[in-house]
Amino acid sequence: MTVEFKTRKELVRTYARHVSRGKVKFYNRYGFTLVPRRREGAYLYDVNGKKYLNLHCNGGVFNLGHRNPQIIEAVRRGLETYDIGNHHLISGPKAMLAQRLAECLPGDLNHAVFGVSGGEAVDLAIKLARATTGRPGIVSALGGYHGHTGFALAAGDDRFKAPFGPLSPGFSQVPFDDVPALERAISDETAAVIMEPVPATLGMRIPHPNYFREVRRLCDQRGALFIADEVQTGLGRTGIPWAIEHFGVVPDILVTGKGLSGGIYPITATCINDRVYKFVVNNPFIHISTFGGSDLGCLAALEVLRITMDEAFLAEVNRKAERFRQGLEAIRRGHATVFKEIRQLGLFMGLRFTSGTFSMVLSKALFDNGLYAIYSANDKRVLQFLPPLTITDEEIDQAFTILDTSLWQMRRSLKYRGLKFLADRLAAEPV
Ligand SMILES: Cc1ncc(COP(=O)(O)O)c(C=O)c1O
Repeated sequence: MTVEFKTRKELVRTYARHVSRGKVKFYNRYGFTLVPRRREGAYLYDVNGKKYLNLHCNGGVFNLGHRNPQIIEAVRRGLETYDIGNHHLISGPKAMLAQRLAECLPGDLNHAVFGVSGGEAVDLAIKLARATTGRPGIVSALGGYHGHTGFALAAGDDRFKAPFGPLSPGFSQVPFDDVPALERAISDETAAVIMEPVPATLGMRIPHPNYFREVRRLCDQRGALFIADEVQTGLGRTGIPWAIEHFGVVPDILVTGKGLSGGIYPITATCINDRVYKFVVNNPFIHISTFGGSDLGCLAALEVLRITMDEAFLAEVNRKAERFRQGLEAIRRGHATVFKEIRQLGLFMGLRFTSGTFSMVLSKALFDNGLYAIYSANDKRVLQFLPPLTITDEEIDQAFTILDTSLWQMRRSLKYRGLKFLADRLAAEPV
């Protein structure tokens, strides 16, 4: 069997007919049609051969680049002995991965339950918070994102959940980085507060250094749990193992996903402290996920942890982050009328422009020039930059060249009414 089509056009037409006509229409309308075939390191290659530097990386799935040879080798070796495994039985790879995660995590986050997707892992975090506290309330941040599944969806924004009601009751949202608002929202009925340390969809907003200390304090005061969603921010992305550590607090539950897969085999983990673990111990067969923590996925994840938790690797992430900071700041100064701010925690970066129009026209110019990056869905002024953590200095410099060229092109093109109109229409699209 082959996954090849005779022409790119035929491939796209078949995708439109059987997978998503809406996506194809959207991408074609704005000239954003990318059909990746070959992929390697920091690059994606369209079926038509065009090469793209990937600064999207699916929110961190490709932290270690595309088709990382060490991850492929770990899974290849694993295939000599293992398969998906039986989720009911005791598993060596699961035990090793949970033990390794406990070593890498702060505080008493000593236990892990594995899943396939981030949404599933967040659902479990919320289930365990409710079961542990016996309370219904879940508080999350407006504009954040936790996944497409039941409880994760309920903790998200209206535009993702409106058609699917009625959803689970007990969910409320507060503005991010607003302590008084959280104080009002949290009560004796609150099971947990769930937040991303830096919400990506909200424009990579870096909170006040004391914000999460206040979140922790309010949770403790009210007897609620704190869940850190590190699906995007974890695993070395911000220059240290977990982003929440920048803020000096330890959550009761930490969710990791995306990059844990090594970009090769899906796996996520809901990491829990000793208190939450009690419910799991007393109810060993209440949460069942057939593919959750498959043995092969565990082997991929173990290799991810071996690479990313290494001190020398993290030092390199920080060195590259500094290179990005300096290079981006120089470019920003050259385009200061439109390019307002660089939001950065390690290699988790957001470039804020004066309006959504600019970042959207810019993302199109970048695309045309061979760099793939997207803007934040809930703050379209912010272009997200998530390079692979393994990006080389030459590739970083290539990103700078493409960014600077594209900014000039964007600033010139915006003089033409037609393109501005296109950008305004794009701004109204629900991405
Ligand atoms: C912060 C965060 N949490 C959870 C999820 C859900 O993960 P998944 O798409 O694997 O279900 C995402 C996905 O983008 C995410 O960014």
